[in-house]
Amino acid sequence: MKYSTVALVAQLISSTAAFHLVQRENPRVLGLDIQRRSVVNPVARDRLRRRQKTVQQTLDNLETLYFANASLGTPAQSLRLHIDTGSSDLWANAASSALCKQRGKQCVESGTYDANSSSTYEFVNSDFNISYVDGSGASGDYAKDTFNFGGKTIDGLQFGIGYTSTSAEGILGIGYTVNEVQVNRAGGKAYANLPQLLADNGDINTNAYSLWLNDLDASTGSILFGGVDTEKYTGTLSKLPIIPESGVYAEFIIALTGMGSNGNQGSIFKNETVAVLLDSGSSLMYLPDNVATSLYTTYNAQYDSTQGAAFVNCDLANESGSLEFTFSGPTISVPLNELVIVAGYSRGTPTCILGIGPAGDSVSVLGDTFLRSAYVVYDLTNNQIALAQTNFNATSSKVTEIATGANGVPNASGVANAVSTIAVASGGGRVAAPSIDPSGAQGGSTASKGGAMPMITGNPWLSGAAAAGAGMMLGFNGF
Ligand SMILES: *[C@@H]1O[C@H](CO)[C@@H](O)[C@H](O)[C@H]1NC(C)=O
Ligand SMILES: *[C@@H]1O[C@H](CO)[C@@H](O)[C@H](O)[C@H]1NC(C)=O
Ligand SMILES: *[C@@H]1O[C@H](CO)[C@@H](O)[C@H](O)[C@H]1NC(C)=O
Ligand SMILES: *[C@@H]1O[C@H](CO)[C@@H](O)[C@H](O)[C@H]1NC(C)=O
Ligand SMILES: *[C@@H]1O[C@H](CO)[C@@H](O)[C@H](O)[C@H]1NC(C)=O
Ligand SMILES: *[C@@H]1O[C@H](CO)[C@@H](O)[C@H](O)[C@H]1NC(C)=O
Ligand SMILES: *[C@@H]1O[C@H](CO)[C@@H](O)[C@H](O)[C@H]1NC(C)=O
Repeated sequence: MKYSTVALVAQLISSTAAFHLVQRENPRVLGLDIQRRSVVNPVARDRLRRRQKTVQQTLDNLETLYFANASLGTPAQSLRLHIDTGSSDLWANAASSALCKQRGKQCVESGTYDANSSSTYEFVNSDFNISYVDGSGASGDYAKDTFNFGGKTIDGLQFGIGYTSTSAEGILGIGYTVNEVQVNRAGGKAYANLPQLLADNGDINTNAYSLWLNDLDASTGSILFGGVDTEKYTGTLSKLPIIPESGVYAEFIIALTGMGSNGNQGSIFKNETVAVLLDSGSSLMYLPDNVATSLYTTYNAQYDSTQGAAFVNCDLANESGSLEFTFSGPTISVPLNELVIVAGYSRGTPTCILGIGPAGDSVSVLGDTFLRSAYVVYDLTNNQIALAQTNFNATSSKVTEIATGANGVPNASGVANAVSTIAVASGGGRVAAPSIDPSGAQGGSTASKGGAMPMITGNPWLSGAAAAGAGMMLGFNGF
């Protein structure tokens, strides 16, 4: 079968291990390989996503980074879905939409859903409408049908069908159900989205999953529903409380309490609390403006406000150095080479951007340029995030179930006095910028030497189509 390529890992660690493990013949874990693919323009894409000062309703106008194979319907209709921790609905385009008629190839690549071709289709309502203030979006029906992924079949999963749409890509939103369009737009009741339904059906013990994006230079990572792969990180997982918004756990927001560079924890700021959203659907990270500006100075980045991107010399990727992110206790170190992204080519020469943008008046976001360096367990049942330093390119696998109860995440320890509340307006309002040590980011990086910055003229993002001749080609070099 076409979708049998997904890895269903089923190894268990010996129960003699000291940490909390559940051993079973057939572990209640569902694994799925995810794949990174080229992005037309990560900055413009993120900008659309963030336009509403909230990432509650997300939509990709361009292509995003991580997707997984799945299918809907009987017989199966294949889909390539973007894994998105920043939204909560699964949706796919209808082949009959004007967009898909116009952009056939894109829709064929990402897959479409035709209700009339599925014997298991069930209509739910017409409340599906996900949109941005600029008018882009998708709307249509909510339906239920059989969903298949990772060799697992789930009956009656609710999802949206985009009969009208401005994005060719389907999305698999795996956030809190309270963030579903049906709830936050139509004022309806929450339905069990994929991770919740897996838990409700007993396919996994509890609504929790782990995401391993792996190295920027690697093409695949994995998502594990109901499990943790202890080979994919180093050290121990540290559990941190998710920060509620107006009393409601709605998004994966945690407290960033310090930042440093080149191994010096807290050298940029420490003992501050900055609310940060963990969002796999965001290509870059967005930090408080003063932090971003300070880092631009450190890395000799030229921020172009019209493009919303900070250009750097691509050689920066060859330098040693790192940024350290501290969360009450644990620190995740992001190597400099994970922060330099090839955003396009100018006459065959790569153009690079720093994977850090200014958050402006929105909540700070830790997107893929941060998340690749971390192994993250999203525990929606306990409203906790467990994280550890990733083990890049790990080839071995030891999968352990996440058990029910407050201590169900294996190999995880609590963090003493972890920050558990920050004033975060619903939808992620502005959070006061930390006071930073302007010299804290210096020292170590020799980024400023090594040649002139590439001169960017015009708007390389927008010139993409027309520029084939002019030598500007957009997209990651990963594929
Ligand atoms: C998804 O399916 C496509 C087409 O069959 C295949 O090339 C790709 O490797 C698959 N990706 C994953 C992550 O399974
Ligand atoms: C199914 O096909 C019929 C006849 O072509 C059409 O009227 C109807 O709108 C279709 N239903 C859906 C859900 O696409
Ligand atoms: C979806 O919501 C947008 C914004 O609120 C609205 O303009 C549009 O008419 C809605 N579309 C449908 C089909 O209800
Ligand atoms: C991971 O693998 C990729 C592809 O083989 C390689 O380019 C990269 O350098 C590796 N990363 C690390 C940290 O070893
Ligand atoms: C943070 O603040 C606490 C309490 O004010 C203090 O004990 C601690 O030393 C501070 N940590 C750092 C790294 O400054
Ligand atoms: C940086 O590394 C790339 C790939 O390894 C290499 O092609 C390039 O020449 C290096 N640049 C410098 C300045 O060393
Ligand atoms: C997690 O696993 C690591 C490596 O096996 C071990 O050193 C550590 O003590 C474990 N931590 C907990 C809390 O079980």
